[in-house]
Amino acid sequence: MDALDGLRAKYLTAIKDADSEDALEAARVAAIGKKGEIALKMRELGKMTPEERMTAGPALNALKDEIMSAVSAQKAAFADSVLRERLASEWLDVTLPARPKAHGTLHPVSQVSEEIMTIFADMGFDVREGPQIEDDWHNFDALNIVPEHPARAEMDTFYMAPKEDGTRHILRTHTSPVQIRTLETEGAPVRFIAPGRVYRSDYDQTHTPMFHQVEGMVIDRDITMAQLKWTLEEFLKAFFEVDKVELRFRASHFPFTEPSAEVDIRCDRSGGQIKFGEGNDWLEILGSGMVHPKVLANCKIDPNEWQGFAFGMGIDRLAMLKYGIADLRSFFDSDLRWLRHYGFSALQVPTLHGGIGG
Ligand code: PHE
Repeated sequence: MDALDGLRAKYLTAIKDADSEDALEAARVAAIGKKGEIALKMRELGKMTPEERMTAGPALNALKDEIMSAVSAQKAAFADSVLRERLASEWLDVTLPARPKAHGTLHPVSQVSEEIMTIFADMGFDVREGPQIEDDWHNFDALNIVPEHPARAEMDTFYMAPKEDGTRHILRTHTSPVQIRTLETEGAPVRFIAPGRVYRSDYDQTHTPMFHQVEGMVIDRDITMAQLKWTLEEFLKAFFEVDKVELRFRASHFPFTEPSAEVDIRCDRSGGQIKFGEGNDWLEILGSGMVHPKVLANCKIDPNEWQGFAFGMGIDRLAMLKYGIADLRSFFDSDLRWLRHYGFSALQVPTLHGGIGG
């Protein structure tokens, strides 16, 4: 069977030397494919004597089997090396830090705005926005602040250059115009907060010409002041992360609410650090009231059918209280050392379960 030994050596070498799946397949076809050398040899069996066939048949079959298993072994080796290559190229050093260290920080105003939106979203409030450049109607008139009203002067408004018709746009002095814009476009009922920048000509330790407010408004049927009180209490408890807060509603005046109340929160300032929910001090934190019927009527909403409450508070002030920042002006100095000290990690998103604080 010298001829078979020659074939065996030839094809086993070809299979072993095959350097790709295609080369391997070519070697297989050449050996045991339909027209392969071994297949042809098998056809010759018919011409042999029965004795010759008795030995040649099994020998050819054995060679065919041997070649088939050599092909499978080589195929498996290819698969292994592909896997090894993948493992080598997709290699990952798990000892490296998961993410590069973030260089920037979130400004306390951004952080506190996120916190406020998270808490109110949980109470079913939407978020609305309005332009920072406003007209008299939205900033004053529709809010029942008539031209001769002293509040209009009190607000230290920034005026833009007059237009040809003599009217002047202003930088909004509060977020209350978003009440008007939302009611005008959406009608009743609504439940939203509106955080944003506001402008007043004022500058000292607790005032900057640009600062941030968040407006809140709920209009529906049967809304009462009790709901206003509950909403503010729930918000302040969640925001300051305390189990209880005590609020004091002080009668006040805003042209767009009736009755109006300024709200103080009980606190303790004795230890040099402010604590809420205890102590003998009161700190004013927001303005609020039941929406004035004229405001609803100005937005084409029937005040006999709908009523609600509104409130407005300073975001920067809330940030100062919560994070112990003494001077409001430092918020807007863009001092990198200050930003690194008071800034928040961009990856630390406030959630109600994970904690609202930074
Ligand atoms: N807009 C008022 C202010 O800037 C706050 C306020 C909002 C009061 C809504 C009552 C209702 O002082």
